Amino acid sequence: MKILGIETSCDETGVAIIEATSKDKPVKLLSNIIASSLSKHSVTGGIIPEVAAREQIKFILPVLTQALKEGSSLNKNNDIPDIDVIAVTYGPGLIGSLLVGIETAKTLALLWNKPMISVNHMYGHIYANYIRNNSNDTMPQFPAIALVVSGGHTDIVYMKEHGDLEVIGGTRDDAAGEAFDKIGRLLGLPYPAGPVISKLALSGNPKAFKLPRPMWDSKDYDFSFSGLKTSVFNLIKKNGWQFNVKKSVNVQDVLSDKPQSREITNFVNVEEQLLADLSASVQKAIVDVLVFKTLNAVKEYNVKSLLLGGGVAANKQLTNSLKLEIEKNNLDIQTFIPPAKFCTDNAAMIATAGFYNDNLVSWENVTANPELYY
Ligand code: KG4
Ligand code: ZN
Repeated sequence: MKILGIETSCDETGVAIIEATSKDKPVKLLSNIIASSLSKHSVTGGIIPEVAAREQIKFILPVLTQALKEGSSLNKNNDIPDIDVIAVTYGPGLIGSLLVGIETAKTLALLWNKPMISVNHMYGHIYANYIRNNSNDTMPQFPAIALVVSGGHTDIVYMKEHGDLEVIGGTRDDAAGEAFDKIGRLLGLPYPAGPVISKLALSGNPKAFKLPRPMWDSKDYDFSFSGLKTSVFNLIKKNGWQFNVKKSVNVQDVLSDKPQSREITNFVNVEEQLLADLSASVQKAIVDVLVFKTLNAVKEYNVKSLLLGGGVAANKQLTNSLKLEIEKNNLDIQTFIPPAKFCTDNAAMIATAGFYNDNLVSWENVTANPELYY
């Protein structure tokens, strides 16, 4: 079965095609095209929904055309692409952005007379773990715990089996990615700040500043990161530090693997080492809490697999700490972390989640739900 997936919930426009045979086997990726309006949001320091939606409209047809070119051929009658099902993100997300993908998907379903699957974006992040390189790759075993850490969510999810998911904890205010982004803004860093903070942290001392570990003792699986943001704000105010990254800092340069650390020296009134120390301390505070609560969930629910998903799962300090703690605690579980390109928003994960949670519907029954939870 060939599934065409469409993802437009925020600032990425993604279309992908997967081939899937059985739920015991990983899916095969045939094409995965992504366009992003990130550079526009970097300049404004965050996403302006109207801007994101307009960019989605610009990108959707070229991205769709390329994905079809790379991942499909014509069907037996030589009239339409050999796609069997169309999966689309229906929430959560920005309504203007979501509608672009949903209306495109519905139009294709009507035109090609194909069924659709509405996919929850958060399921997509979890199912990014089911896109594997070859059919003999190990698959996650149930029961499992998933830690979904993105710009909008920080959730610990207990998975009994496909389609049987229970959220056992989540953030009460800012999400982990949001905390990275908002604290990054206080440090004068461009949006999204998570990857930049983790890069700066490489040359910083995580013990340089004593920051809180929010809800450490709460004995549940909930998180809260807004107090951490306030602590950093107060620290900056108390010391009179001023951060101001020159507008000319190019996020892509900072993030590239080329030797670029000099690029990040464009700060005024502040030592580069201070910024690195703050980044390392902030990252450690966020990671410590995520690891502590996830490990507790893994132990209490006695699971066989741990699945990570969402943009923050690309954070090396988080993934390394989790692996280390699992080893230290002698836990007999397998940890799955998607490659970085499948941690951030993409359509391959949406098509894949659609396959494992197949609930075929007609295009008339697909509507956007921006407030969707699980
Ligand atoms: O999943 P995603 O692409 O979009 C949402 O659905 O939100 O996640 C984006 C978030 C941003 O907050 C970004 O700062 C964060 O993921 N992020 C990271 C890293 N890479 C992306 N945070 C920390 N470390 C990273 N390496
Ligand atoms: Zn996402």
